[in-house]
Amino acid sequence: MPYADQPTVTASGVEIPLLGFGTWQLEPAEARRMVAEAIRIGYRHIDTAFIYKNEEAVGQGIADAGVARDDLFVTTKIWVDNFHDGDLQKQAEESAGRLGLTPDLLLLHWPKPSPPLAETIKALNDARAQGFTRHIGLSNFPSAQFREAAALSDAPLVTNQVEYHPFLSQKTLIATAAELRSSITAWSPLAQGKIADEPVILEIAERHGKTAGQITLRWLIQQGVIAIPRTTKEGRARENFDIFDFALSDDDMARIHALAAPDGRIGDWLDAAFQWDRD
Ligand SMILES: NC(=O)c1ccc[n+]([C@@H]2O[C@H](COP(=O)([O-])OP(=O)(O)OC[C@H]3O[C@@H](n4cnc5c(N)ncnc54)[C@H](OP(=O)(O)O)[C@@H]3O)[C@@H](O)[C@H]2O)c1
Repeated sequence: MPYADQPTVTASGVEIPLLGFGTWQLEPAEARRMVAEAIRIGYRHIDTAFIYKNEEAVGQGIADAGVARDDLFVTTKIWVDNFHDGDLQKQAEESAGRLGLTPDLLLLHWPKPSPPLAETIKALNDARAQGFTRHIGLSNFPSAQFREAAALSDAPLVTNQVEYHPFLSQKTLIATAAELRSSITAWSPLAQGKIADEPVILEIAERHGKTAGQITLRWLIQQGVIAIPRTTKEGRARENFDIFDFALSDDDMARIHALAAPDGRIGDWLDAAFQWDRD
């Protein structure tokens, strides 16, 4: 059964498991071990990138787990140095080679002022047409560039992977994604562990008999946002997967939304020329 009956979101007809496993900063041996373990636990969505330098290990972890290819959703990303026509397709082919499979999704890692977006989007579509990925999408694109990219693309851009957790609002971008029949994937969904000390989240967690991490991930997927937490620990991978047997009330959801603050952003790697959405 594809995705083992877990909740998914459908963006422009593409079904994506709402819970994934992130692999940023996992060294190759750790990435291989944790990806195999995550799949054994039940994760069906794995996130990597060229720049994480672990695509080969992620591919080995997937092979070790022995799950049918079509039961998994695998994402990788084009690094910003490879945005020119030709360079992009070359990286796409090499990334697929390192993974040992055609990824489900290939993202532009974040926007760049040059080369022109039209050239990069055309190359991304060409990589798809050549069979180096099943679908395409974006990462770290503010709404204005998200719309521009969608208008330039022949194939649908099925996600925009951006920082999103309780300390940061992404209201505008979530609305933009819905309008474009795309989706939002939350990176640093646990605010890199900072949610573990948040009193409101801890109070809600105690009431539900869950942990702060589980409450935060549930808050994301209950919005229809894809979450891709990362951990180096098997126990935490299991904890982060155990979020499908309860629901947050509207009040719980609103109280977590209220934690968003103007200075809540953790990572900002955009060129100065780009502006994040205000809210
Ligand atoms: N597109 C982009 O530009 C971009 C940028 C950043 C990240 N990403 C993707 O998003 C993924 C996730 O983001 P992230 O790695 O920055 O951060 P994250 O998943 O929010 O947090 C990971 C940190 O939280 C800890 N942790 C894991 N589960 C926990 C739990 N239940 N309770 C408390 N702490 C917990 C982990 O420590 P332990 O290892 O000790 O468990 C780790 O230090 C990345 O791995 C990557 O795939 C994409």
